[in-house]
Amino acid sequence: MARTAIIGGTGLTSLKSLEITGREVVQTPYGEPSGPLTHGVLSGVEVVFLARHGYGHTIPPHKVNYRANIWALREVGAENVIAVNAVGGISDDMDPERLVIPDQIIDYTWSRFNTYFEEGLNQVVHVDFTHPYCAQLREALIGGARAGGRDVIVAATYGTTQGPRLETAAEVDRLERDGCNIVGMTGMPEAALARELELCYACIAVVANRAAGRGEELITMKDIEQHLTRGMVSVRGLLEQVIPAL
Ligand code: HPA
Repeated sequence: MARTAIIGGTGLTSLKSLEITGREVVQTPYGEPSGPLTHGVLSGVEVVFLARHGYGHTIPPHKVNYRANIWALREVGAENVIAVNAVGGISDDMDPERLVIPDQIIDYTWSRFNTYFEEGLNQVVHVDFTHPYCAQLREALIGGARAGGRDVIVAATYGTTQGPRLETAAEVDRLERDGCNIVGMTGMPEAALARELELCYACIAVVANRAAGRGEELITMKDIEQHLTRGMVSVRGLLEQVIPAL
C-alpha cells in the first residue's frame, strides 16, 4: 500500500518516471475524485498519483472536488501527500520556473466545499491550522532539494484566490500587503481538508509567471505553459530524490 500520494497540478498530469501498476476508481461520500487514482512505483517506492484537474486537464480550480480527492487518497492508505501547484510570483525573488516550499497560506477562496465537519456531528470541530503544512514533510522536501543541489525557496506565504481568472494588478498589490509571496488557485481548501483527515501534507509550488502587474503587461497561457514545462522537470527530479527518504 502506498504511504505517499502526489497530487499533480497544472503542468503535471502524469509522472514520466512512474512505473504504473494500476488504476483505481474510488467512490467517496463526497462524490467523485478528479479521476481514477494511479498506483505505481517511483524510485523503487510505491506511490499513488492523482491529477488535480483531471488527466485531460479539464477541471478548473473552483470546480475541483477537493473533498473527494483527499478522501480517496486517505481511503487507499496515503499518509503523506505532496501537492504540486502552479503559482504566480509576487515577491521579486519568485522568478518563473523557481520551486517554492511554502510555509503559510492565506485563503481568499469562496463558495468551495471546504470541510468534512459539517453534517451529522456530535460536536462542532475546529482543527488547528496554525502551521498549515506538515513540518516533517516540508523538511524532507527541503532536505532533499539541498542534498540534490536544487535551488528552492524554503518559506513563502501562498495566497489562494478563487480563479479561474487571474488577478488584477490591484488585487496582487493587496495580496502583497497582506504578506503573500506567491498566488495560486488550488492551495485551499486542499491543505485544510488534508489537516482535517490528519494527513501529512506539504506543497511544492512552481512559479509559472510573474503575478499580475509584476512583469510583462499580459500573462499568456503560452508563457505559463513554457515555464511550467521547465519547472516540472525540477519537480520530477525533486520527487524522485525525496520519495525514497519518506
Ligand atoms: N495567479 C493565480 N494562479 C496562478 C497564477 C497567477 O498568477 N499563475 C499560475 N497560477
